[in-house]
Amino acid sequence: MNKFSARVVRVSAPGKLMLLGEHAVVHQRSCLVTAMDTRLFMTLALAPPHDKTLTIHAPDVKVQWVQRPLTEVFEGHEPLIRGTRFIERAVAVFGAQFGLTQGVRIITSSDFDSTLGLGSSSATVACTLYGLSQLLGIPLSPRELFDLGLQAVLQVQQKGSGFDLAAAIYGGTVYYANFPPREIMPLDVPGLPLVVAYSGIKADTDTYVGYVNQRLEHWPDPMMSIFDAMQHLVFAGRDALTARNWAYLGELMNIQHGLAHAIGVDTPELANLIFAAREAGAYGAKLSGAGGGDCVIALAPPEKREAVEQALAKAGGEIVKIAPHAAGVRLELMVR
Ligand code: MEV
Repeated sequence: MNKFSARVVRVSAPGKLMLLGEHAVVHQRSCLVTAMDTRLFMTLALAPPHDKTLTIHAPDVKVQWVQRPLTEVFEGHEPLIRGTRFIERAVAVFGAQFGLTQGVRIITSSDFDSTLGLGSSSATVACTLYGLSQLLGIPLSPRELFDLGLQAVLQVQQKGSGFDLAAAIYGGTVYYANFPPREIMPLDVPGLPLVVAYSGIKADTDTYVGYVNQRLEHWPDPMMSIFDAMQHLVFAGRDALTARNWAYLGELMNIQHGLAHAIGVDTPELANLIFAAREAGAYGAKLSGAGGGDCVIALAPPEKREAVEQALAKAGGEIVKIAPHAAGVRLELMVR
């Protein structure tokens, strides 16, 4: 323990929603993402000196007091259960970088439903790394946290772009480029008039990323052109966001949704919600994330917000009342 370490810390990280650029960002383009104010909470405590284990209690993902020696975590043994894999990899990455000789106890809880597709695994990685850095008194910049976190995420899943980790760590609304040096640019856009509706269908991101990869193999030229078009939308969207030009951003969202349809990740249910939102007066609407289900987002003028929400609900959507542009990973409590 150094003189800045603590006995217990509680940290939290937000969920996220993709504004523009999904799928293209997996293929070395960039995207725009906003952190959603619904949080994963994590309490971390140092175990007594003789205890060299990692103990995890995460009842939201059905993990009940799982315990294993730190040495097994560092050696990269398969996680005992699926629900602990992101924490285990983050602890291992942190241990490899800074050394971790004392056992750690970790408890998580979240105020978001993991079926919504708001990104609980990236929030888990952000909380684990930031929590350990606070617990052990090792200050890390957001960029250092991101670089470590990405190593952990890529050890669990090779397919993701890392955009969700950027949102969990930086919070707010960010431009994220998935090509070296992986630029992460926070954008100052409070007041984004976002409406969110859950489609009622849980989509598996890996399945849809895999499906888009297959399409890319079969149709390399058109798919690459679509990714390039998505990249243009992201650049234009970044300008629209900073100028708070919601009408223009709405148009870009509509185009992005058309391109998502073209790469094969739209569904009748999502399209139905999106048309309903547009017909009720939204500036624009689109699926958000991998497609196949999860959430749709719309931008609505204040005077049309209620009508857009009602139209989405009538079309079978479940309105999710959470605000965008939420704070990134942060300390909630520290006991020295
Ligand atoms: C999923 O929310 C967004 C994708 O672009 C995957 C990723 O960027 O990791 C489809």
